[in-house]
Amino acid sequence: MLNTRLLLLSWVIIMALSGSTLLLQLAAQSRPGCRSRCGNLNIPYPFGMTEGRRDCSYGGLSNTFVIDCDNSTDPPSAYIANRSTGLNAVDISMDNHEIRIMMNGARECYNSSGAVTRRTRSGITLGIFSVSSTKNRFFAVGCDTQATLNGTENRGFSTGCTLQCKSITDVINGSCSGIGCCQASLPINMRTYEISISSYDNHRLVHDFNPCSFAFVAANDYDFNFSTTSLMGMAWERMPVVLEWAVEAKTCEEAQKNMTSYMCKENTNCSDAAHSGGYRCHCKEGYQGNPYLSGPDGCQDIDECKTANRCHKTALCENQIGTYRCYCPHGFEGEGYTNGCVARQKENNSFEMALGVAIGCLLLLLCASLLALGLRRRKATKEREKFFKDNGGLRLQNLLSQHQSYVEILKVFTTGELKRATDNYNESRILGQGGQGTVYKGIMMNDRVVAIKKARLLDRSQVNEFINEVVVLSQINHKNVVRLIGCCLETELPLLVYEFVSNGTLSQHLHDNDGQCSASLCSWKARLRVAAETAGALSYLHSEAAIAIVHRDVKSTNILLDENFTAKVSDFGASRLMPSDKAQLSTLVQGTFGYLDPEYFHSSQLTEKSDVYSFGVVLAELLTGMKAISFAKPEKERTLSLVFVSAVKEDRCLEIIDKRIINEGNVDHIREVALLASRCLKVRGQDRPSMKEVALKLEGLLRKTKQQPWIHQDPSNFEESEYLLRGSHVNYPDTGLINTTGSRDTMKNQLIPFGVEDAR
Ligand SMILES: *[C@@H]1O[C@H](CO)[C@@H](O)[C@H](O)[C@H]1NC(C)=O
Ligand SMILES: *[C@@H]1O[C@H](CO)[C@@H](O)[C@H](O)[C@H]1NC(C)=O
Ligand SMILES: *[C@@H]1O[C@H](CO)[C@@H](O)[C@H](O)[C@H]1NC(C)=O
Ligand SMILES: *[C@@H]1O[C@H](CO)[C@@H](O)[C@H](O)[C@H]1NC(C)=O
Ligand SMILES: *[C@@H]1O[C@H](CO)[C@@H](O)[C@H](O)[C@H]1NC(C)=O
Ligand SMILES: *[C@@H]1O[C@H](CO)[C@@H](O)[C@H](O)[C@H]1NC(C)=O
Ligand SMILES: *[C@@H]1O[C@H](CO)[C@@H](O)[C@H](O)[C@H]1NC(C)=O
Ligand SMILES: *[C@@H]1O[C@H](CO)[C@@H](O)[C@H](O)[C@H]1NC(C)=O
Repeated sequence: MLNTRLLLLSWVIIMALSGSTLLLQLAAQSRPGCRSRCGNLNIPYPFGMTEGRRDCSYGGLSNTFVIDCDNSTDPPSAYIANRSTGLNAVDISMDNHEIRIMMNGARECYNSSGAVTRRTRSGITLGIFSVSSTKNRFFAVGCDTQATLNGTENRGFSTGCTLQCKSITDVINGSCSGIGCCQASLPINMRTYEISISSYDNHRLVHDFNPCSFAFVAANDYDFNFSTTSLMGMAWERMPVVLEWAVEAKTCEEAQKNMTSYMCKENTNCSDAAHSGGYRCHCKEGYQGNPYLSGPDGCQDIDECKTANRCHKTALCENQIGTYRCYCPHGFEGEGYTNGCVARQKENNSFEMALGVAIGCLLLLLCASLLALGLRRRKATKEREKFFKDNGGLRLQNLLSQHQSYVEILKVFTTGELKRATDNYNESRILGQGGQGTVYKGIMMNDRVVAIKKARLLDRSQVNEFINEVVVLSQINHKNVVRLIGCCLETELPLLVYEFVSNGTLSQHLHDNDGQCSASLCSWKARLRVAAETAGALSYLHSEAAIAIVHRDVKSTNILLDENFTAKVSDFGASRLMPSDKAQLSTLVQGTFGYLDPEYFHSSQLTEKSDVYSFGVVLAELLTGMKAISFAKPEKERTLSLVFVSAVKEDRCLEIIDKRIINEGNVDHIREVALLASRCLKVRGQDRPSMKEVALKLEGLLRKTKQQPWIHQDPSNFEESEYLLRGSHVNYPDTGLINTTGSRDTMKNQLIPFGVEDAR
């Protein structure tokens, strides 16, 4: 408990220290292959520089969305449409659909006798853009000034103000409110304007302190500091003006009728430009990018967890499509958004609390120096938490906490433990490798040897089933079933930890020695025992386990042998998590071809009777020493099950029985087992015996065999070779060829705890 509290404290500290996050600077999003910058200006599509291409900007070459880049200046200057418009763009905003341009004001200057010495005009003619009425104002400066802004569009209008002042002392610094300076607001949807200035008396009376009249439109954020010096002669600079833009002269509704020309791409919303006509595209909430582009520059899901601190600082953040989720790390509870997470606890102890805080303070000091390390670790921890959750860890915890009894049975390992156990998944520890997973030999801290299976695929939609199954399998405690010890859910794909079975697979012993059976399995008695043990295990899974479990992948590579050559069935049930649709059938079947229930091709369902069929094939393998499928043989003789069944039918089964196991004493037993095998291999599931019946029959025969001591006269005496092997094994637990028995029994490929080929 103290531990969890300390954990919480370090979380708080680490999260607080790393709380400030940087917002991502988005790059300009222009069309692929089009220049995205002119000087300091980012040019997002639908704007674009043509450079001879029509598609860089919306509407082609003749449109106002073209940016003309004049690179004769430094930095280069960007102009809307073309440089002769003089509309010098300095910022294009996608969020507000605004363009900021720099504009001259208008002025008129006089000499003391009232003649005009200088006149500058100012005006704008915009295509489909308009001057923002809310973000700009009109200013006039002078003491004998009439300034007018008139728009010449359809509706003629005129606005402006008149200024008269007699003495500079009347002017109030900083106040543009009627004396020497006035301002006016702009009408909405103004696409064209022209500023005109006139004077009543041509500044003759005010010439000594105000020789010129000025008028201009400027953005609200232009910090115009009016003062007496402005009257003397304003600094001649350009003022920013905010323009609004929209695309196509249609409403959203009209535009959406033609999706080929509709400008808004994936994950966008459309809005009508309030007054000016046209519409605007926006990324939906939770997305960012350029709504006018599709693909990676278009509206993409925002990883809220990276760009802002959305969750409470003690909580974890998980990005989701269009949104995000806050949750508490494992071992903590709370909602995580506005309220923090607290350690899940059973009791409260103020001393412990105080101690926790004290230690926490020490931790804080430590933390400061270890911050960099901490941040790196945090990422890894976050990742582990995420995997743990994705892999159903919470569900597993739930199940485990409901049933205390599981706790001893199933152990939840951490990534660290398994990394250590496998020497960081060292290649030398690989026991088996196949299309769908890798099995490593692991040595735990307490020197216990385990097999760690790292799957390559997991069907995410079936995580709950997976967890249920892990719990059920962990409860199976049968001497002929490979035990599931635990799992680790903190990696992207869950790791399963199994009992280590040291002596390889039945298939290896039967087939791997150039057709010479391994000494230990050359006797009839040994084979009968393996058959009986396997049948017993399957029968247990079918009818005696907590819930009926169909193995689904019984085959000789899934039957492991321990150092006493006791059979252990592995990889049971796990294949239930395999994809179930027919499209994947071919890949699914590859590994198990030769064992697969023929009924499966019609029903696509594997039942207990399918296990019986597969077991029949294993029995046939034990009897004949042949492989379930031998591609080297002519097509007719390729499939053992067919060859075997027809041999039994034609009563010539002794012809195909492995000669090494036959002697006068056991022919009847062998015949009996062959008949049993052929019953297991019936095409129709209902004609096959149950696993229980098979197991009882085999056990009965085994008992009888044991009562016939003369069978030990068999040249390849099982008991003897077993003894020798056991001895060798103790001396050389991991390696080497063992020649003591005279057979070339390689133990190098020891143990493949589950048919790696068919792992999930
Ligand atoms: C300026 O632009 C023209 C054409 O747009 C190009 O040919 C020229 O190389 C550019 N000059 C510089 C200095 O970038
Ligand atoms: C610039 O644009 C204006 C208005 O769009 C047009 O009348 C003029 O011909 C253009 N000039 C050049 C050089 O393209
Ligand atoms: C003002 O300008 C007019 C016309 O250019 C000129 O005739 C007159 O002499 C000027 N007055 C003064 C005081 O410079
Ligand atoms: C706009 O100003 C010009 C003179 O600068 C004037 O001739 C014209 O009548 C004005 N237009 C309107 C609509 O007021
Ligand atoms: C107004 O400001 C100018 C300089 O900005 C200064 O010279 C002048 O004295 C000020 N006038 C008053 C009345 O404060
Ligand atoms: C106005 O005055 C403020 C502070 O005095 C200054 O930062 C700003 O640049 C001035 N604005 C202009 C347009 O000169
Ligand atoms: C839709 O827009 C495309 C491209 O602008 C145009 O070629 C097509 O004729 C339009 N279709 C309709 C039905 O208006
Ligand atoms: C976009 O539209 C969806 C539904 O069409 C709506 O729920 C959402 O609030 C809109 N988002 C924005 C940013 O307009």
